[in-house]
Amino acid sequence: MVYRWMYISRATTSEGSLDDVGIYLKSRGRNRDLCITGFLHRECDHYAQYIEGETESILRLRSLIMQDPRHTDLRILAQGVMTPRLFAGWEMAYASRGALGFSEFHRDLGRKRDLSVATLSETLCYMQMATADGQAVDVMRRFPDRRRM
Ligand SMILES: Cc1cc2nc3c(=O)[nH]c(=O)nc-3n(C[C@H](O)[C@H](O)[C@H](O)COP(=O)(O)O)c2cc1C
Repeated sequence: MVYRWMYISRATTSEGSLDDVGIYLKSRGRNRDLCITGFLHRECDHYAQYIEGETESILRLRSLIMQDPRHTDLRILAQGVMTPRLFAGWEMAYASRGALGFSEFHRDLGRKRDLSVATLSETLCYMQMATADGQAVDVMRRFPDRRRM
């Protein structure tokens, strides 16, 4: 059984700062150890994150993330049991700077959307497009030891 948690929050750090980049660096090891997969996206001053894994691991990480001062104003989009994993193999996928962003992706679809007010389906749609094989892989950073978990 896989538990998922997804939210959008407002960053309190500047994009690309050590505090910001440190999140990605630290998350890799921990998520790998806990078999947590997902997607973390930052666009301007907002983060959108989807994490999935064993219920206990996700709930523990959720409480750490909720208390983290590097962001605030968390708006939860989804939580609960979900099968199967949507991001199997991704320790924490993310769209690198210069990659097709959330707003740009939706603009291409003829919609004017901003991550700060995005819905669950809009955000998931973006994340799934970005990790879909053969689509945006070249603009994504895929962790080297990609494997199914
Ligand atoms: C937007 C955001 C996303 C985060 N995502 C993760 C994550 O996926 N995995 C993780 O281990 N820590 C993540 N963190 C960091 C945790 O909140 C927390 O700082 C870290 O797990 C604590 O590690 P510690 O054992 O050094 O205290 C995130 C923090 C922020 C602000």
